[in-house]
Amino acid sequence: MSIPARNKTLFLEAREGRPDEILVKVEATALNPIDWKIQSFGLFIEKFPAVLGFDAAGTIAQIGEDIPSSSFAVGDRVVVQGWYDPVKKSTVGAFTEYFVLPSKFVAKIPASTSFDEGATILSGIATSAFPLYNQDPTAASVKLTAPWLEGGRGKYAGKPFLVLGGAGSMGQYVIQFARLSGFSPIITTASLHNAPFLKSIGATHVLDRNLPSDQLIAEATKLAGSHFEVVYDAISTPDTFSTAYALTAQGGSLVTVLVSEELNAKGKQDGKAVHMAHGLFAPPLNHDIGRTLLDALPALLESGDIKPNRTEILPGGLNGVPDGLRRLKNNQVSGVKLVVHPQDTA
Ligand SMILES: NC(=O)c1ccc[n+]([C@@H]2O[C@H](COP(=O)([O-])OP(=O)(O)OC[C@H]3O[C@@H](n4cnc5c(N)ncnc54)[C@H](OP(=O)(O)O)[C@@H]3O)[C@@H](O)[C@H]2O)c1
Repeated sequence: MSIPARNKTLFLEAREGRPDEILVKVEATALNPIDWKIQSFGLFIEKFPAVLGFDAAGTIAQIGEDIPSSSFAVGDRVVVQGWYDPVKKSTVGAFTEYFVLPSKFVAKIPASTSFDEGATILSGIATSAFPLYNQDPTAASVKLTAPWLEGGRGKYAGKPFLVLGGAGSMGQYVIQFARLSGFSPIITTASLHNAPFLKSIGATHVLDRNLPSDQLIAEATKLAGSHFEVVYDAISTPDTFSTAYALTAQGGSLVTVLVSEELNAKGKQDGKAVHMAHGLFAPPLNHDIGRTLLDALPALLESGDIKPNRTEILPGGLNGVPDGLRRLKNNQVSGVKLVVHPQDTA
C-alpha cells in the first residue's frame, strides 16, 4: 500500500497528554529522507491519518502531573523525535504545531542552540551514536564506549575511522562522534565543496565522492595505512555498500543506515560484522543509551562538542514540506538540513 502524497496540510487537535507526558509547542521541524520514503514506498504505516516528521524543537507548553518539576518545566526549550510504531503500524509525527510525547524522550537544549538547529539533532545523533555505542546485548552495535560516558572520551586515539557520506545530516554527526572518541585519521567522502566545513567539524581528509570505487579504496587505505576496524556507510546505496565493505578490515565492523541482507550474509562468511543503524529513541533496546545521550546533550551542545547541522528554512510553514521532500528525493540538498516553522502555516 502506498500513501497518497498530500499538498494540503493536515490540521489535528493536540490530544490530551497523560500524566508522564509533555506537550511541546513546535517551533521548528526538520525534514528527513524517511518522510518521503514512507510515502513513496508505502513503508511502516497502515493507520491514517498519518502525520510524518521525525525531528522537532520547541518549548514545553504543558507537563503531566507525574513529571517532577526538577526535570522539566513549562517554557523549557527542548528537542523531540517523532516515531513509528511497528505494532500499531502508525506514526507519531512532528509535522504539527503541538506534539505530545513521554518525558523520557525529551532533551533540553541550551540558549546557544536555536530552534532551527535543534530540529536537526535527534535523529542525527541517534542514528550515528546508537550503532557505534549501544551496549544493549540485542542491539546492532559496534559496542564502543560512548564518548559522553566515563572513559569514552578519546578512547580510540590513533585508530582510523571511515565515514562514507560525511556531508549528509547523519554523516556530519558520525564525524563528530568519531572525533570525540579520538579516532584519527577520520576520512570521509563528499562533494569537495563541502570539504572545508567537514574539516571544521572533525574530518581529517575528505575524498571526492565521485571518484571510482577502486580509487576511493586505494586512497583511503593509503591514508589510513590499513583497512578500517570501523566503517560507517551513512549513504548505503549499492555503490557505497561495496566500497564500504571492501574497506572494512577482517574482524572489523561496518555500520549501515539501510538494510542489505546480501551484505549481512557476506559479512558472516568473511568475518566482518555488519550493523544496521536504528536511529529511534522509542524502541526499548535504545532506552538506556538514549537516556544517557539525551542527558548529556545540553553540555555537548553548549561546549560546541556537537555542532547541529546547518539549516535552510523553507517558507510557508508546513505547506513547505511537500516541495522540500521532493528536493530530498531528487538529491537536490547538499550539506544542509531542510527545516519548516509549523507556527507559520497559513
Ligand atoms: N537506519 C536509520 O535509523 C536511519 C535514520 C536516519 C536516516 N537514515 C537513512 O540514512 C540516509 C542518509 O540520511 P541523511 O538524512 O543523512 O541524508 P541527507 O542529509 O539528505 O544526505 C544528503 C547528502 O548525501 C550525500 N551523498 C549522496 N550520495 C552520496 C555518495 N554516493 N557518497 C557520498 N555522499 C553522498 C550528499 O553529499 P554531497 O552534498 O557532499 O554531495 C548530500 O549532502 C538516508 O537513506 C536515510 O533514509 C537511516
